[in-house]
Amino acid sequence: MGVSNVKRWAWAEVNLAAYIHNIEHLKSLVAPAEVWAVVKANAYGHGAIAIAKSALVAGASGLCVALASEVAELRDAGVESPVLVLSQQPYDSLPLLLQQGATHTVYSIEYVNELVKHATALGISQVPVHIKVDTGMNRVGVSPQLLMELVHHVQELSPRIVLEGIYTHFANADEPEHPANNEQSRLFADSLNQLGHLSENLKIHSCNSAAAIRFPQERRSLVRVGISSYGLSPGPELTDDCRELEPVMSLKARVSHVHVVQPGQGVSYGHRAITTEECVIATVPLGYADGVPRRLWSEGGEVLLGGKRFPIMGVITMDQLMVNCGPVGHCQIAVGDEVVLIGKQGSEVITATDWADALGTIAYEVTCGIGARIERQYLEAHH
Ligand SMILES: Cc1ncc(COP(=O)(O)O)c(C=O)c1O
Repeated sequence: MGVSNVKRWAWAEVNLAAYIHNIEHLKSLVAPAEVWAVVKANAYGHGAIAIAKSALVAGASGLCVALASEVAELRDAGVESPVLVLSQQPYDSLPLLLQQGATHTVYSIEYVNELVKHATALGISQVPVHIKVDTGMNRVGVSPQLLMELVHHVQELSPRIVLEGIYTHFANADEPEHPANNEQSRLFADSLNQLGHLSENLKIHSCNSAAAIRFPQERRSLVRVGISSYGLSPGPELTDDCRELEPVMSLKARVSHVHVVQPGQGVSYGHRAITTEECVIATVPLGYADGVPRRLWSEGGEVLLGGKRFPIMGVITMDQLMVNCGPVGHCQIAVGDEVVLIGKQGSEVITATDWADALGTIAYEVTCGIGARIERQYLEAHH
């Protein structure tokens, strides 16, 4: 039996039917704007290839990634749709990006010049670009003041450089009432005005999930949705808006060891958790190397086992964690029983957002953190 056939007792289930449902729901919400699915960072930990293919099946018009290697992964898997790279890349990845037919984000004259140089050397005659305007995120993009200089430069390089789009990105869309949203909106509208009728043939976009859901006037040509497509709310203020969405990823394992621990005993490194009574401890073969944060236990982390909630007990170790299943006889736990860390069991559910709330972070970080050692098992959509 090959190594790849040896199954670990820990895995992530990725529900592609739920993902397709979410894309279809978002598509009908934002129509006539297109949906472009954000599949960077291995599709927020869900698995880029399966998610990208499902996005296109569900009617997404394009994909967005962060890195040249992410474009190559999709192309190697046979994905032919437009793939927008969301920021400028190191110059030495430009040949790969050009060969893979990426759609490039540009915001500097130097970068556009490098693109032309490499495209000419490779004999590539049409290079699609979107200009990114920085309207207040202060991460990447051309300032509205320098926009027209860049636009004119790009136009001079036509037809090799094809200006296909212009876009920006909100810093606070997950707080819809934040005053910076209006300011960014205004600056983007000003930028489009500067372009005049040049903008008529461009794809214009500014929305991530939160903006797509809450700022209908901003939907324009297309929206770039990530977190909502994975069935998770962009933040607490959008929870109600995301009721129709289904979480896509579950994190599961099997109990690897069951033992009885006497009262007053320390559990895990540092003995920071001490048993107060004789109890059954179930060991689960998942740890911080798999993306279960070490301090999840002290922040009230729980798992589902036998359809009930049980607390994680003691510091989470690299590959394993312990669960306090209560007094002997309280419940029947056996090696091999299924444990749900994220997902549903019976009528109970734990979400990536629950982890994020406990840990003071966002659901994005939770799903992106599920490690490469965890096999993704795809639940196929039945069409
Ligand atoms: C430029 C850009 N657009 C869109 C998105 C998608 O955002 P969300 O996952 O909130 O929908 C991201 C993700 O961080 C991004 O960086």
